[in-house]
Amino acid sequence: MQFGKRSIMCGEVTSSMAGSTVTVNGWVNRRRDHGNVIFVDVRDRSGMVQAVLSPELNNNAYAAAQNLHNEEVVSLTGTVVKRSASGQNPQWATGDIEIQGHALQILNPVKALPFQLEDERVDEELRLKYRYLDLRRPRMFGLLKLRSDIEFAMREFFHREGFLDVATPILTKNTPEGAREFVSPSRIQKGKFYALPQSPQLYKQLLMASGFDRYYQIAHCFRDEDLRADRQPEFIQLDLEMSFIDELDIQTTVERLIQFALKKVFNRDLKVPFERMTYDHAFGHYGSDKPDVRFELKIHDVSLAFADTSVNFLKAALVHGKIGALCVSAHHFSRSELDDLVEKMKQQGAQGLLWITCAADGSLESPIAKFLPKDFVERITPLIAGFKQGDTLLIMAGDFQDTWTMLGRLRLMLGKKLGLIDENIQRYLWVTDFPMFEYDKETNTYAAMHHPFTMPQPEWEGKPYGEIKARAYDIVLNGIELGGGSIRIFNSAEQTKVFQAIGLTQESAEKRFGFLLEAQKLGFPPHGGLAIGIDRFIMLLAKCDSIRDVMAFPKTAKGSDPLMQAPVELEDKDLAEYGLMRKKSLT
Ligand code: AMO
Repeated sequence: MQFGKRSIMCGEVTSSMAGSTVTVNGWVNRRRDHGNVIFVDVRDRSGMVQAVLSPELNNNAYAAAQNLHNEEVVSLTGTVVKRSASGQNPQWATGDIEIQGHALQILNPVKALPFQLEDERVDEELRLKYRYLDLRRPRMFGLLKLRSDIEFAMREFFHREGFLDVATPILTKNTPEGAREFVSPSRIQKGKFYALPQSPQLYKQLLMASGFDRYYQIAHCFRDEDLRADRQPEFIQLDLEMSFIDELDIQTTVERLIQFALKKVFNRDLKVPFERMTYDHAFGHYGSDKPDVRFELKIHDVSLAFADTSVNFLKAALVHGKIGALCVSAHHFSRSELDDLVEKMKQQGAQGLLWITCAADGSLESPIAKFLPKDFVERITPLIAGFKQGDTLLIMAGDFQDTWTMLGRLRLMLGKKLGLIDENIQRYLWVTDFPMFEYDKETNTYAAMHHPFTMPQPEWEGKPYGEIKARAYDIVLNGIELGGGSIRIFNSAEQTKVFQAIGLTQESAEKRFGFLLEAQKLGFPPHGGLAIGIDRFIMLLAKCDSIRDVMAFPKTAKGSDPLMQAPVELEDKDLAEYGLMRKKSLT
């Protein structure tokens, strides 16, 4: 089809072009018929321009506009004219002009749309089914443009700093990052499977063994895990690795990277170095390894105040655990508010939530008021700096990990409920000195908290596993884990010991990671790195609630793609090609 090709983008027509003829190509955003004249807003990715079509101009444009529908693809040619002062639209970059249409060509008619683009309340499944329509919305285009700009700035930074961009395989072998793998059957080697990478972790380490020294990649990663607002089964990491470095080298590189990207894209100055805090401090004060430090409200250990309590559940908690409290000032909780908090925490798995309010006259109100010692306030004051009349204590008791985790959740809930969070600030934070291993109560084993290639802190051998710290760090932004990394083991004897600690026998370690253990004997340099979740980073920069908003074609919570209708079932004959057979019943 021959069509009038554009001479300019819609959003770029300016009043300095008044009197000249232009052609724009784009979509009909809206058509308004005023009887004697028809207005058509034409849109492309640069913005919008208004065309005015009138029968007086005696051309085909007015007739063609009679049957125009939203989202039809058009080519429009006309003369740029200045609008009268009263007709101007200050919302648009082109609001002081319009195009007097001479010729209007419909390049592609549309059938009824599944939803109108300006409708904000469209069901997400429908939006994803017609994602190409959804992405026509200027907001969605803006988000993906922001993403492209940030990624470009990151590439520029790394290129300038001498990092090599190296693509690593998608069809590979397990990369333990704590999630289940996606697998793909091999047709040529029937009965065998590739695993899709949870991250390029082992490849980037091997590139250090190759002497590449500085590597980065904007890498696709795959994890078969339960989805959340900040998780997708397929996501993208900005992955980096460096040789002959320590933690600080990696962290300052990442700080400079983010600083560079924000300056480039937003012209925003970012203060470095970022705040830092150890894991123990973060967990002890915020009940989380990714604390949102935009607001205070820390957790206090108040076990001492209850040392001789007669309240059974508190007494029981103190045998193996602790009692923790959040102290809320400047808010009077109503009884129903407190009941609601108790209920919400129970829904989240807490055993319960106890509250104690110190009234203005110093008297204590609480479901356990009559069991509290007379000197309770004197006992609490040294444990909670600044505790005063009018404050409410929200208390949980039990196993330290579980209780502090729940208090951490309560802290976040209160931060939102009480409006304690300044949404306009961005607080970057390094969390350092993570535990090397975490204990799994169900399997009664230890697993690596980051991954088993992370180097433990010096002199770890012989210590109880639960007390060993790792040379691992996370970068956190506003309470969300943006990225994680570590200094890696590069010595095969040390690697073998860490594998043993997580219960891998010599034989299974050789089978799974023999290539790494061998590489570590063939000249492996000291090295370390980090990966940032790009999707999460853009989500936070753009202040979106969901990671899906900053991905072009995300999956639904059930892991499906409603547009392509993936995943699909394979027919028996296709399965046979891979050496697979369908079980009668699939569970
Ligand atoms: P980690 O597992 O911490 O580290 O992942 C790094 C970052 O990737 C992002 N991320 C995700 N984003 C969206 N959806 C997911 N399912 C998802 N899972 C992780 C997060 C996270 O902080 N190999 C190590 C890095 C290293 O040690 O260098 C790794 O992958 O933002």
